[in-house]
Amino acid sequence: MTAELEARIELAQAVERGASVLSSRVVEAFLNVPRHPFVPAFYRRDGAKYVPTRGHNDAWLRAVYADDVLVTEVGGVHVEDAPDCGVTGVATSSSTAPGLMAEMLDALDVRPADRVWEIGTGTGYNAALLCHLAGAATVTTVDRTARLVDAAQGRLHEVGFAPAVLRADGAGTPPAGGPFDRIIATCAVRRVPTAWLEQCVTGGVIVAPIGNALGGGAVVHLTKLPDGGGGGGGGGDGPIH
Ligand SMILES: C[S@@+](CC[C@H](N)C(=O)[O-])C[C@H]1O[C@@H](n2cnc3c(N)ncnc32)[C@H](O)[C@@H]1O
Repeated sequence: MTAELEARIELAQAVERGASVLSSRVVEAFLNVPRHPFVPAFYRRDGAKYVPTRGHNDAWLRAVYADDVLVTEVGGVHVEDAPDCGVTGVATSSSTAPGLMAEMLDALDVRPADRVWEIGTGTGYNAALLCHLAGAATVTTVDRTARLVDAAQGRLHEVGFAPAVLRADGAGTPPAGGPFDRIIATCAVRRVPTAWLEQCVTGGVIVAPIGNALGGGAVVHLTKLPDGGGGGGGGGDGPIH
């Protein structure tokens, strides 16, 4: 068994152990989809700076398959374009911690052939997991910049998935491919935009982190109601219209 496969199995086991309940389909997705092709480099914090870590060595592999967030863009500077001395600023894109991804994917309850819209492609790793769960033909993922979507699309192709990867503002005009059975945001939102409810089929599910931070905080989990609103919980206390 290769070191990469061993690390991937350990991560899937850690993700399963860390969650109170996790569907076997989500655990299988983590077993089947490698994380390392999506994070050939990431930033590590060094005082006030974010310094790029590159290279396929043991330390890199351990970090890639740890249940941790990996920052990949700071102040709009993609880690693969960063100088070796590092950059300062605020993290603007990352690969979410796998444990949190697993809980969100579990809440999303993706079925084969579901039409899925992901807001926040980032590295493309979560999109790859969505492709494994739904099938790539019905997955659409969007992010803010050409740099992010081009890199993610290339890596998704490398691992054998060809979903629609688009540069778009998730708060703007919804992409083609809807209405969607499942909508997931990987960036935090203050409230679920009306457009997402409109783009979701009745009985469909929306999952999003609520708050201001990149990725973290409480997660809202809504089911689209026949009256057009959303019922659910996690980040809210009743229907959201
Ligand atoms: C936590 S990261 C993405 C994690 C990603 N799913 C992964 O597996 O790597 C959140 C992403 O949301 C993107 N984002 C933030 N606001 C957005 C918006 N309004 N529309 C689309 N993407 C957005 C950021 O650029 C960032 O790449």
